[in-house]
Amino acid sequence: MARASVRHQRLGVNIDHVATLRNARGGSHPDPLRAAMSIAEGGGEGVTAHLREDRRHITDRDIDRLKAECPLPLNFEMAATGEMLEIARRVRPHAACLVPEKREERTTESGLDVVRVEDSLRPIVHGLGEIGCRVSLFIDPEPAQLEAAARLGAPVVELHTGTYCEAVGDARAMELARLRRAAALAMELGIECHAGHGLDFATVGPVAAIPEIIELNIGHYLVGEAIFAGFVPTIARMRRLMDEARAPLGAKAAEPEAR
Ligand code: PXP
Repeated sequence: MARASVRHQRLGVNIDHVATLRNARGGSHPDPLRAAMSIAEGGGEGVTAHLREDRRHITDRDIDRLKAECPLPLNFEMAATGEMLEIARRVRPHAACLVPEKREERTTESGLDVVRVEDSLRPIVHGLGEIGCRVSLFIDPEPAQLEAAARLGAPVVELHTGTYCEAVGDARAMELARLRRAAALAMELGIECHAGHGLDFATVGPVAAIPEIIELNIGHYLVGEAIFAGFVPTIARMRRLMDEARAPLGAKAAEPEAR
């Protein structure tokens, strides 16, 4: 029996850790812009960069150069602060993903608690919408968070896959089920669903196979693996794994579509 075609799943490549490596020596190599310029060659469709409040990896200048010189859509990850909103107003990225930020954390450890900070998020979501930026909220795969995102009128959520990636055995299966339920609920609520954090070659398949998830954002593993295999081949392998996971759903691998 023929299956209905499922939407193509985009791959956004997070280049933060190219900047981490550059900053280790304080010079200009390796250049995150150069990495961004090669994403498309590997089959990635977007560039993601997180301008953290402490500027530990990506800098303001990186964001300006990415916007000015990289033809791929820029997904600007940002804390929900007035400072970041001002930068977004100036840079006008294609998309902005609101993430929680703690100075002492190594990476974004959990999703935004939209339920708790709904009122303070509202002006930021609104402000980003006003400049035509596609707003997404990075959340844990919990119904209450999705419902709060819907109340805020966020057009997109990105589900945090970190707990799924770290879990083993039955716990991982349970986390995957949680992601599936959250993705289905996002669709019911009319919210576009993305996912990311901690994904690697071993964990990407089951998440890529969730039909409602139409974008994955992957960074740290790709940059690390690139040391051994090269950046473009590493992205290409991730792209292939995503396409293979999605093929049984009837997804078209290279179906062009608006973002
Ligand atoms: N999505 C969001 C919202 C993130 O904050 C990050 C990490 O910066 C990623 C995706 C990518 O995670 P990773 O680098 O672990 O692949």
